[in-house]
Amino acid sequence: MKQFKDKVAVITGGASGIGLALARRAAAEGMQVVLADIEDVALAAAADELRRTGAPVLTVKCDVSRAEDVENLAAQTLKACGGVHLICNNAGVGGVRVKTWEASAKDWQWVLGVNVWGVIHGVRVFTPIMLRQDEEGHIVNTASAAGFVSMAATAPYAVSKHSVVTLSEVLYHDLQSEQAKVGVSVLCPAWVGTNIWNAQRNRPAALLDHAETEAERTRREQVRALLEKGKVTAADVAAMTFEGIANNRFYIFPHPKIRNDIRTRMEDILELRNPTRTA
Ligand SMILES: NC(=O)c1ccc[n+]([C@@H]2O[C@H](COP(=O)([O-])OP(=O)(O)OC[C@H]3O[C@@H](n4cnc5c(N)ncnc54)[C@H](O)[C@@H]3O)[C@@H](O)[C@H]2O)c1
Repeated sequence: MKQFKDKVAVITGGASGIGLALARRAAAEGMQVVLADIEDVALAAAADELRRTGAPVLTVKCDVSRAEDVENLAAQTLKACGGVHLICNNAGVGGVRVKTWEASAKDWQWVLGVNVWGVIHGVRVFTPIMLRQDEEGHIVNTASAAGFVSMAATAPYAVSKHSVVTLSEVLYHDLQSEQAKVGVSVLCPAWVGTNIWNAQRNRPAALLDHAETEAERTRREQVRALLEKGKVTAADVAAMTFEGIANNRFYIFPHPKIRNDIRTRMEDILELRNPTRTA
């Protein structure tokens, strides 16, 4: 997809972090922007900011883990904008950082619900619309460096992001078989300074099973510190993503060094070595 001006971009998780940076970039390219997010106040603030730059913006409150919310997002988009050319399935939550057997059923449901089902619904609902339009389009699924490596104490998040990587790869092959005009990219950042360290703010009460413990609060603060040290900003990630879309690049790695860890994991597998620990 080379032309962005006057096209329609739908961005889930668009009220904060990488999603907001993608929205700013889409607006700067002259696109109509549809922002979808679960967080009302942040969604309204993001839309106000973009509108002040002159961009046409539609906001849709949406919990991406719910099929009917994503279906409503598509319906609202088509009604207001008449089509969709770029869908960024970006909404995601950071996982609980506990040992694999310590994550609760509700931890798994929350993380897989948003990070995996959110992308499944986005692909399931928006791809047929884009194919029917028969125009150039692109799908960006936000995975993570965690979609290629297996760090200790990251099970729900790592499982969710590995799923997004393979879902995107299969989608790529299926669109190629159709000779579709719709491209796919999988966005795989490492540490980027966003609000993901505080993802629990959007965790539905029904999927909470205990109040945050002191140990969990400490781990959350550690993650925040790591994110703040990240040298690549959300704006950098958005710029690399748009460059990737324009060049129909599938894998987008804003942090090139992560490829060393991926290489080690791949070699472990091919050489039948036990897994090397990733920091
Ligand atoms: N920040 C990083 O270091 C990093 C690294 C790798 C991957 N990612 C991925 O980037 C994506 C964006 O995260 P971010 O870092 O910008 O975090 P963020 O918390 O700043 O933004 C995430 C957005 O998603 C929204 N959201 C959460 N649950 C939702 C739901 N059920 N339905 C709709 N919206 C929902 C939040 O309200 C928020 O606006 C995520 O998929 C995340 O896993 C982030």
